[in-house]
Amino acid sequence: MKTEQICLLILSCIIITTSANTKCSSETTPIVPKYYKMEKCQRSKLGIAAKANYTSLTSCQRLGIEKKALALNFVPPEVLRKTGKKKKDNETGPLEYTCEVLKCAEVDGGLSLVNDSRYDYYSIYAKPVLHINSTCIPATGMFYLTPTRLNYTEARTACRNMSGVLADTASEQRTDALAQMLAGAGVDAALVSLRRSNASNSAFIGANGDSLDCTTYRAWAPGHPRRQHDKFNCVLVTRQKTWRSTSCKKKYQAVCELNPGGPYKQGSIFASLVPPNGTETPAQKED
Ligand SMILES: *[C@@H]1O[C@H](CO)[C@@H](O)[C@H](O)[C@H]1NC(C)=O
Ligand SMILES: *[C@@H]1O[C@H](CO)[C@@H](O)[C@H](O)[C@H]1NC(C)=O
Ligand SMILES: *[C@@H]1O[C@H](CO)[C@@H](O)[C@H](O)[C@H]1NC(C)=O
Ligand SMILES: *[C@@H]1O[C@H](CO)[C@@H](O)[C@H](O)[C@H]1NC(C)=O
Ligand SMILES: *[C@@H]1O[C@H](CO)[C@@H](O)[C@H](O)[C@H]1NC(C)=O
Ligand SMILES: *[C@@H]1O[C@H](CO)[C@@H](O)[C@H](O)[C@H]1NC(C)=O
Ligand SMILES: *[C@@H]1O[C@H](CO)[C@@H](O)[C@H](O)[C@H]1NC(C)=O
Repeated sequence: MKTEQICLLILSCIIITTSANTKCSSETTPIVPKYYKMEKCQRSKLGIAAKANYTSLTSCQRLGIEKKALALNFVPPEVLRKTGKKKKDNETGPLEYTCEVLKCAEVDGGLSLVNDSRYDYYSIYAKPVLHINSTCIPATGMFYLTPTRLNYTEARTACRNMSGVLADTASEQRTDALAQMLAGAGVDAALVSLRRSNASNSAFIGANGDSLDCTTYRAWAPGHPRRQHDKFNCVLVTRQKTWRSTSCKKKYQAVCELNPGGPYKQGSIFASLVPPNGTETPAQKED
């Protein structure tokens, strides 16, 4: 705690001296996501990002964080100890790995969950249950495109209503993935979190309150962002992988990014991770 506060102080001094108006939370408050136990005796069959034979849940969670996994399956050691009495119900084949970290997380109804008394299923999305129509972007998060057109204020409320925020687009990977999501839905452009206040010198601000100046990636379409501040303060991501400024009063479909449980930095779950603490690294396999 104390060292964290010292780091905060030092970093904020650096930020203040270099650029007085730029607030960049990723430099000061890296928050590692947490995996919550959601289902006992269940295993998700979603795509595996990596797997390993770990005896400790902490090691499995570290692998999850390293691989930006949204969920994981884990066999607790006490289950391994009683392998002799293993139930022969729905279990399929011998145990391969005790830790499977997953690219995506289950949505409402857990469509890919199967009964498997050896495994427990963990997810960074603790509650509420994710919307059935949400889209997974591996290693990034779960997103939801509103079915109706909304202005910025309405869109923000709609996202909040489903325990989310307007999506962050401030990276190439996110812009590309959101563009692909729009293309899949047959939508040309949708509102995201970036917005500027109408103050004359104002920078664009993202989902977590960070100024766009905190990152270097830009995907503005030619001629954007337009200069008239009162008319072009909101931003659309397009299926052509660009950003366009628009009026906050105009209505578009909007992309929400769903909040995981617990403390985390909005809009960038895996943005700036604290390096793992201990180093239990037995042989692990990736595919
Ligand atoms: C992982 O551990 C289980 C249980 O101890 C064992 O049955 C399995 O063969 C191991 N897998 C590998 C790839 O070593
Ligand atoms: C899974 O287990 C639960 C409780 O034991 C049971 O009610 C359910 O029918 C099982 N589902 C499948 C698909 O076997
Ligand atoms: C999910 O999307 C489908 C097709 O767009 C729609 O028909 C359905 O009502 C949606 N489900 C929910 C729960 O919103
Ligand atoms: C958000 O929820 C509130 C209260 O449940 C409701 O009145 C409002 O219409 C919802 N807004 C949107 C945009 O879904
Ligand atoms: C934006 O403009 C409105 C009306 O023109 C004004 O009332 C408001 O104070 C302005 N906001 C900022 C942050 O400048
Ligand atoms: C969005 O629409 C609502 C009415 O549905 C209105 O009250 C609000 O002022 C609008 N917001 C903007 C930014 O135009
Ligand atoms: C590192 O490990 C120690 C002891 O296991 C723990 O108290 C501390 O919070 C950990 N720090 C981080 C950053 O995980």
